[in-house]
Amino acid sequence: MIESDAVIKFAVVGLGHIGKRHATMVQEHPEAELVALVDVMSKEDLGLSDLDVPLFPDVESMLSAGIDLDVVNICTANGLHSAQALKALEHKKHVVVEKPLGLYTANCEQVISTALNVSRQVFCVMQNRYSPPSIWLKGLMDEKKLGEINMVQLNCYWNRGDQYYKKGSWKGTKEMDGGSLFTQFSHFIDMMYWLFGDITDINARFENFGHKDSTEFEDSGFVTFKFVNGGMGSLNYSTAV
Ligand SMILES: NC(=O)c1ccc[n+]([C@@H]2O[C@H](COP(=O)([O-])OP(=O)(O)OC[C@H]3O[C@@H](n4cnc5c(N)ncnc54)[C@H](O)[C@@H]3O)[C@@H](O)[C@H]2O)c1
Repeated sequence: MIESDAVIKFAVVGLGHIGKRHATMVQEHPEAELVALVDVMSKEDLGLSDLDVPLFPDVESMLSAGIDLDVVNICTANGLHSAQALKALEHKKHVVVEKPLGLYTANCEQVISTALNVSRQVFCVMQNRYSPPSIWLKGLMDEKKLGEINMVQLNCYWNRGDQYYKKGSWKGTKEMDGGSLFTQFSHFIDMMYWLFGDITDINARFENFGHKDSTEFEDSGFVTFKFVNGGMGSLNYSTAV
């Protein structure tokens, strides 16, 4: 367990766009210390030459290096999250994992059950839950101020141009990205579950309108379902707007 008055020691895995933010936030917090980095790229290529923290080429070598460490932050491509989180848990580390927790239910369940077995915490980054409008809406729901809700509509209409899906990147691939419901819209789906609970009887229709040459998955969909707690809902999404 982490002592409440101790400095918490973090390692960041994946020092790209979001991993650099994790590293900065850890360094700026008075009760946190950045003790290790993991990336397949060199410090020079990552633009982190000035960062005086050891860099390892993979999670296993970092975890086996005997570094005093409490938390591992997983900030790699979606398809790597659950396997890297499991490795950290097996070494009895707490885990902060960027969304999504994994691309398959079975892998996510394995992460959660391993965390319980080794008595460590797993936190999936769903920062939108902490925004003032979300907290306000959750309060309204918990106090049942809106009465009975029978129909919920979640509409996510975004644009991701071809420049976003660069050749050689994990973005747009089935194996490492998984699709827009993971990379773009998981925050909103999480919010819907948080407010209205689990869903069942799911039907869906998908289409790739704008990214046939740049993604291995559909960019748009209409999804309908029932809520286990009663009522029905729809999720309509696209990144081709
Ligand atoms: N919470 C949010 O709102 C939010 C926002 C953006 C991205 N994300 C998530 O953060 C994750 C990373 O996204 P990004 O935009 O920073 O990607 P990115 O491509 O900029 O960074 C990924 C990094 O991982 C490194 N990497 C690749 N393979 C590795 C391996 N085996 N071990 C260690 N490092 C490896 C790459 O070299 C790169 O530096 C994604 O899962 C994404 O969904 C979350």
